[in-house]
Amino acid sequence: MTTPRKVHVKSFGCQMNVYDSHRMADTLAPAGFAETATPEDADVVILNTCNIREKAAEKVYSEIGRIRAMKEEAAAQGRRMLIAVAGCVAQAEGREIVRRAGSVDLVVGSQNYHRLPEMIARAQSGERVIDTDFPVEDKFDALAAPTPAAIAKRGVSAFVTVQEGCDKFCTFCVVPYTRGAEISRPVEKIAVEVARLADAGVREVTLIGQNVNAYHGAGADGDAATLGALLRRLSDVPGIARLRYTTSHPNDMGGDLIAAHRDLPALMPYVHLPVQSGSDRMLAAMNRKHTRRDYLDVIARLRAARGDLAFTSDFIVGFPGETEQDFADTLSLAEEVGYAGAYTFAYSERPGTPAAEMGGQVPPEERTRRLHALQALIARQQRDFNASFVGKRLDILLEKAGRLPGQLVGKSPYLQAVQVMAPRDLIGSVVPVDITDIGTNTLFGALADTARAKAPAAAGAES
Ligand code: SAH
Ligand code: SF4
Ligand code: F3S
Repeated sequence: MTTPRKVHVKSFGCQMNVYDSHRMADTLAPAGFAETATPEDADVVILNTCNIREKAAEKVYSEIGRIRAMKEEAAAQGRRMLIAVAGCVAQAEGREIVRRAGSVDLVVGSQNYHRLPEMIARAQSGERVIDTDFPVEDKFDALAAPTPAAIAKRGVSAFVTVQEGCDKFCTFCVVPYTRGAEISRPVEKIAVEVARLADAGVREVTLIGQNVNAYHGAGADGDAATLGALLRRLSDVPGIARLRYTTSHPNDMGGDLIAAHRDLPALMPYVHLPVQSGSDRMLAAMNRKHTRRDYLDVIARLRAARGDLAFTSDFIVGFPGETEQDFADTLSLAEEVGYAGAYTFAYSERPGTPAAEMGGQVPPEERTRRLHALQALIARQQRDFNASFVGKRLDILLEKAGRLPGQLVGKSPYLQAVQVMAPRDLIGSVVPVDITDIGTNTLFGALADTARAKAPAAAGAES
């Protein structure tokens, strides 16, 4: 037997990018590649890039520089290292990457990962391989499934891509160009993947997609199913205690999905619902196709279906033409909703998008000032949200060992990290925890008396 070759995959992007990294490693496993956590000893280093903002896109070139030094070192020792660039920068820039970075052996676009084993073989024979086509075949069918060992190593919480691509064309965004048109995977194929994860110990599944609630995959009867219907189907999979989904668009928040929040205890009471701006003028310029009122109505309908729902969002400040008043509207919208947290971004011009050509670009220092003001507001909301749980009991999914001996770290229904003293055999169980204190990014708690009594049943459901 030859020793297995090693592959290191590094993610730079969103959760779908992370999911893709796992699936690349899964697909290379049958071709004889073992995954390694460090690039130094890898035979193939895959950089899975993100193109969403300029900073993210530029990071790839500095990273290529760093890996090139390792490649030269390996060559000096007579060992061949291949550098592959995957993901959304690869999709957008293709050949340009090879031109700018001579050390790159292989460029693979976001829809072609199933072809990696063959592409690597070609690169090993000295060819520079570039594949950024949008293929006709379904990459999800062609990608290898993870082994139970690989699943277990990734923990009790897993992502599953159910929808990909975007047809919405917000004027600031590269995703419709880097990920292509919207597609949805069939319900039963997703159910098989989720059942396999559950069998290997996964307890929480987050369904992901650029516009996950635009999901319209084929159901068992062949008709298009909604995300609400998919969630109902997955809530029947034995072993799955928690379901989540992200990222959703306000315009696709249909009645069926809202009803799922009312009906499914496994569906966590936490919705990430990006709004970008609180100004109708900016929302129109961004081509979001909804108003501030529409967004607030969606939030109200969700809250009516389930009273304990918490919301997070994405915001862009300093979009072209944004005035002080437009920005004030964003602050007031955040005040009105009362978020549990949010991702906040200064607008970043992306080549090829309509907004990059618009007049009224806001000076960088003004973008930064607005960003800081919004961040201060969101930080206060997040602190208040976390503090509201002190003295309350929350169900916590225990995920892994903490830093202190005897400590475990888990997640609340609201995605808060929770530290608690608990025995290791409770990893993978959902246990009630009394919240005692909050830190900057974590809650601290103590196992409620009933926790141990519940544990054997939860652990039994897993095996
Ligand atoms: N599909 C999701 C978002 C995907 S991108 C949605 O529609 O909500 C994640 C976030 O990055 C966006 O919500 C937006 O806030 C931010 N973003 C996208 N393009 C950006 C740009 N050019 N500049 C700054 N932030 C951007
Ligand atoms: Fe980008 Fe808009 Fe599509 Fe989200 S909905 S991925 S922000 S174009
Ligand atoms: Fe980035 Fe591509 Fe995700 S641009 S945010 S990795 S879809």
